[in-house]
Amino acid sequence: MVSSLPATPQPSLYERIGEEAALRRIVDRFYDLMESDPAVAPLRAMHAADLGPMRERLREFMMGWLGGPPVYFQRKNARCMAMVHAPFPIDAAMREQWLSCMHRALDDCGVSADLQASIRKALARMTEDMVNR
Ligand code: HEM
Repeated sequence: MVSSLPATPQPSLYERIGEEAALRRIVDRFYDLMESDPAVAPLRAMHAADLGPMRERLREFMMGWLGGPPVYFQRKNARCMAMVHAPFPIDAAMREQWLSCMHRALDDCGVSADLQASIRKALARMTEDMVNR
């Protein structure tokens, strides 16, 4: 019998969340929170003054990461996440600030508890590897 590759989950997390339009709302909410909440001022200070380019890059990255079109990696200037984050001093507190903004953004944009559980779990793993202090 010919063995086959594991089936791609259908629908993908990208489709379940509401594709690019939903990710645009979530990522915009994420950076609005980062810009306005004094509790995450250290995280904000780590970023460039203009968050415009980041709103685009994080949205594009998350599209592919959730199983949608890999637009971030089709860009000429795409970089791997480990290299992007290595120059920044990311400790446990900084990781918490990032995650708290993203969790609130997912909530504020009405992402279901079920879908959030999968996304939060994957983000917890990814951000663990980014802690470098
Ligand atoms: C652990 C907490 C994190 C911290 C403190 C952090 C911080 C940063 C900083 C300071 C930058 C550069 C910003 C700038 O140039 O203005 C950046 C870029 C970026 N981050 Fe993060 N980040 C974190 C987690 C994540 C996660 C979990 C993802 C993906 C889901 C992500 C995706 C990106 C992307 C796509 C870029 C832009 C890369 C490029 O320039 O092409 N980050 N991050």
